[in-house]
Amino acid sequence: MAATDLADLGLDEGGHLLVGRALGRLAAGERLTVTGRHPALRLHLAAWCREHGHQLADGNALADVGTDSDADTGVGAGAAAPLLVVKGSAGDRRWIGAERAGNAHGPPETRADPTWGLAARGALVEAGGPPIGAHWSQREHVWADIAPQLYAAAAASQWDPATAVDWTAPVDRVPADIERAVVQLMTYLVENEQAALIIPARLLSQLHPHYREVMQLLASQAADEARHVEVFTRRALLSGEFLGTSSAGGRVSLQTLLDEPDFTTASFLLSVLGEGTFVDLLRFIADHAPDQVTADVTRLAARDEARHVAFGVAHTAHLARADKSYLGTLRQAVERRHSALRDTAGLNAEVFDSLVLLAAGSWSPQAIRHGWQAVRDLTARMDEGRRRRLAYIGFPDDEAAELSALHTRNFM
Ligand SMILES: [Fe+2]
Ligand SMILES: [Fe+2]
Repeated sequence: MAATDLADLGLDEGGHLLVGRALGRLAAGERLTVTGRHPALRLHLAAWCREHGHQLADGNALADVGTDSDADTGVGAGAAAPLLVVKGSAGDRRWIGAERAGNAHGPPETRADPTWGLAARGALVEAGGPPIGAHWSQREHVWADIAPQLYAAAAASQWDPATAVDWTAPVDRVPADIERAVVQLMTYLVENEQAALIIPARLLSQLHPHYREVMQLLASQAADEARHVEVFTRRALLSGEFLGTSSAGGRVSLQTLLDEPDFTTASFLLSVLGEGTFVDLLRFIADHAPDQVTADVTRLAARDEARHVAFGVAHTAHLARADKSYLGTLRQAVERRHSALRDTAGLNAEVFDSLVLLAAGSWSPQAIRHGWQAVRDLTARMDEGRRRRLAYIGFPDDEAAELSALHTRNFM
């Protein structure tokens, strides 16, 4: 017969692990002899057996326990006598109705069950826990096959604002007007980065955690934006204590992004159209930067943004390919945003002027003409990029051109 010896270990000190392990090797109805010297062993074992659906048997093996009051408390007499446990057939009742929460190696095939709650993907889930209040549990609404690779790339590409930028590089040789333009651009970037941080954080809070790679990617995206807010603020303050201006029209434009409730539409408006346009903007500022710090912070941010765009494009394309009619939903979202912003200035005029001056580098008429043309070229590049991404998602070229033209003047 199977036996386990607990020596002087009490069931309340971990002895139940030895008993459970020994019973685990037996079939229902088979018997296990338990010996031990702990004074409360019988009492505790009886309670444990009741709880776990086993039977603490009477019989010869228990004869030595006796029938006096000591036996009832399990204390004293026959402390070393063997006890006999008959394995129950019900198993551990907690696991009746338990189910495996998908597969640890990949996301749910169609849907993550909210009743799995916070259980790890692939865990055996005891029934009856609280469901998770995640709004996004359908795979097609959140997934992109590229998400695991993008997360790995994001994890490998995190940079430390304190060391990735040489903050001691001089800015005092930057002419005062150009420096004001840089401060204005940084102020505008911070405002946009804040929106770009809040949106993935909001989507993340409503996402079923079994889309783990998307969850990780959105978390790293939010961390990226937090760094961008930091480095742009820090650059703005290198030469003085005041930031530039924030226009109402720019903030109205960003608010329409924050108000978008749908996961894919929000990701589309933010990443495919907004952040895609921002990659061009950041590279432009880096190319025309009057100092090393400005060049470094915008280049580092542009690199992160390219990942954010890649997920937005891949996810939107994934859904649009599965459901062609979804292109209509995306189109309506662009049109809705455009008409909501029709009566606003969109881009802060001071931001546009700062871009021109940055590219001009001086106030001479020829330089300003050159700067103006450079910003015109930039907006053309932005438009071209948006049309390319829209076409990749599935829009015909003419529709892609039309939708790109409706994108906010605020760039994001
Ligand atoms: Fe950013
Ligand atoms: Fe971003």
